[in-house]
Amino acid sequence: MSELESPQRQIPDALMLHGFWYRALPGDQLGRNRLQKATLLEIPLLLGRDRQGKPFAMRDACPHRGMPLSCGAFDGEQVECSYHGWRFDAHSGQCQLIPSLTADQKMRVDRIYAGSYVCEERDSYVWVFIPDPVLPGAGFGKAAEPTGPVPEIEKFSNRYKTAYLTADMPVSVDHGIIGLMDPAHGPFVHQAWWWRKRESIHEKQKNFEPIPNGFRMSAHTPSSNSAPYKLLRLYADGDSVTTTIDFVLPNHRRETIRVGKYWFSSLTTVTPIARDHCRIDVVACWNIFRGLPFGPSLLKFVFAKFVEQDRRTMELQAEGLKQNPHLMLIDDADRPAKWYFALKAAYLEAKCSGAEIKHPMAGPVTLKWRS
Ligand code: FES
Ligand SMILES: [Fe+2]
Repeated sequence: MSELESPQRQIPDALMLHGFWYRALPGDQLGRNRLQKATLLEIPLLLGRDRQGKPFAMRDACPHRGMPLSCGAFDGEQVECSYHGWRFDAHSGQCQLIPSLTADQKMRVDRIYAGSYVCEERDSYVWVFIPDPVLPGAGFGKAAEPTGPVPEIEKFSNRYKTAYLTADMPVSVDHGIIGLMDPAHGPFVHQAWWWRKRESIHEKQKNFEPIPNGFRMSAHTPSSNSAPYKLLRLYADGDSVTTTIDFVLPNHRRETIRVGKYWFSSLTTVTPIARDHCRIDVVACWNIFRGLPFGPSLLKFVFAKFVEQDRRTMELQAEGLKQNPHLMLIDDADRPAKWYFALKAAYLEAKCSGAEIKHPMAGPVTLKWRS
């Protein structure tokens, strides 16, 4: 792969990876007996909660004539289309009633399905499993079964605090993800008087290793200008701080920091909404600031600041990308981005051939950069 190839040129059309769980929206934004629209991988979705509070996800288009089902009514169990009143079970999508049928018309209503998706709530978010698309023209049936369990944040004690943050980014998921794993933008984008100065840039060396469907920045003592570490140092005697950062397809960045009995764990995802639009969601769990009243708000403040700096940067970047400029990935700072593209390609290749995914990393690698 040449240094000068742009991400777009490396992967012609692999923006949306099907066959994975994706975060749809924060659970506290989904009320009972109400319908809410969301988009994942350009698929218009309708989300809601049934009478018991269990979330469901359907394709937001009636299989009769395409009316958005979100325009219809919901009684806590069934969704009724606003055009001709067809009714669908909210969880299975199976048609329950076609009001126009007369008593002697024996149409098998139960063979009709509105598209539905397996849906689960985990760690403050409603997740939806997005399977491979059905062939054009083929109707919907029962929801496709997920290929794995819904992703979960690793926790190391029973009692912990949690918070989430979300931000829309006007760039493709690829730019969102490589921006997230990019170590070189820190000194320029994430400056603040209370945080770090541009002059604090220094040489770093990190070890990486392959893990299934991804790569890991091996357990290390975090660099002195990493966000949670600075906070941790204020709080605990950080002599044995270790941190691990994993990236796993399709879009998961997990960061775990541990110091004695204290821990901080986060799962950040960058979700494709449309080709030029993604959304970043950060959920963190921790037990480190439990005693401090300002702990969670301080942590939220720091992360909100970071996410806003990234969002603003990508908003500006989107302006530049409109001109479709030639782009490049350099060593070593952009090597994680290269692995990301290579992993995506390997995943799609394995899908086509039916063989095991061939990991692009042969073994551990040490990368060096200044940040
Ligand atoms: S379009 Fe939905 S019932 Fe006709
Ligand atoms: Fe950033």
